[in-house]
Amino acid sequence: MSIRIVGIGSALPEKKMTNNEIAEMVETSDEWIRERTGIVSRHVSTGETVASLAADACLRALEQAGKRAEDVELILVATCSPEEALPCGACQVQEKIGASKAVAFDINAACAGFLFALHTAWAYVEAGIYENALIAGSEVLSKLVDWSDRGTCILFGDGAGAVLVEKCDTGGLMSFTQHSDGRKGFVLSCGNRQLSNPFVRPMHEEKYVQMDGREVFSFAVKQIPLTIEEALKKANLTPENVDLFVLHQANKRIIEGIAKRLGVDISRFPMNLERVGNTSSAAIPVLLDELHRKGIIRRGQTIVLSGFGAGLSCGACVIEW
Ligand code: UT7
Repeated sequence: MSIRIVGIGSALPEKKMTNNEIAEMVETSDEWIRERTGIVSRHVSTGETVASLAADACLRALEQAGKRAEDVELILVATCSPEEALPCGACQVQEKIGASKAVAFDINAACAGFLFALHTAWAYVEAGIYENALIAGSEVLSKLVDWSDRGTCILFGDGAGAVLVEKCDTGGLMSFTQHSDGRKGFVLSCGNRQLSNPFVRPMHEEKYVQMDGREVFSFAVKQIPLTIEEALKKANLTPENVDLFVLHQANKRIIEGIAKRLGVDISRFPMNLERVGNTSSAAIPVLLDELHRKGIIRRGQTIVLSGFGAGLSCGACVIEW
């Protein structure tokens, strides 16, 4: 028994921000950003929230599947940038789309969040607890980024993608693997509200993304080929058997490095980061939706998904679409 993606959708904020607009705010250039990352523009919220984007993406996934919100049993929202500590984004999505029967909660594994949520849904279905799940990756990272830090503000974008998965007897999710290394947490971090109570006053207010870009880069290029090979081995497959590698959209050079290490032609690594930037947990489902709408993804194909980022966390899975 496994799970199969039966519906997919995405939602991006209306406002598009180009590299040139960022170059008016910090010392950088369109040329530098394109060359070092592959990013040309990204969508930035002017009011859209993690919950509103996730709800829009979920409604599109349901519509594409021809299914009703009332029949959804589980809603998982992967996010590291919720507007509210309470209630969780998934409960807000439940209310917005009218999925009254569903159990809803959030998962935070940063850029690996969508994959970890997909694997969690698989576990619930495999255990016989639920038969379907709506899984969204949704981020409004623009509020976590220091817009005076050129090392990070050029990278990220806002958006959401969602899939509806259902129990299936053949195909679907064939294998997965996931890893976390909390010892490297300092490499990519973002503060939250500091301890403040009658006994303790906050020492400092550091609430923006801090990143050692080179460390993240080298972690991804070294670890992801191994993680993908691990997932493929579990499915008794090799990279040659894979039609498409849909990876977290962090940096074009990272994806090129992974393709090279796997010995796979870059043409099998579709990208959309030039138009959306790094949308963390939303990156994989946003790209999947785009590829599906363009007819690039078709039933029966073997697809590898892989995400990596803060934690440090990473994962990969093999699916038969
Ligand atoms: O989802 C996971 C999230 N994180 C990531 O995926 C990040 C992965 N890392 C990266 O994508 C890259 O490390 C960056 C794009 C962040 C940086 O690229 P890099 O090639 O690793 O640059 P660097 O940090 O080694 O910096 C090289 C130079 C430095 O100048 P000096 O010290 O050589 O004079 C930086 O100060 O480039 C400078 N620099 C910039 N210059 C123009 C850094 N950011 C910029 C910028 N514009 N935006």
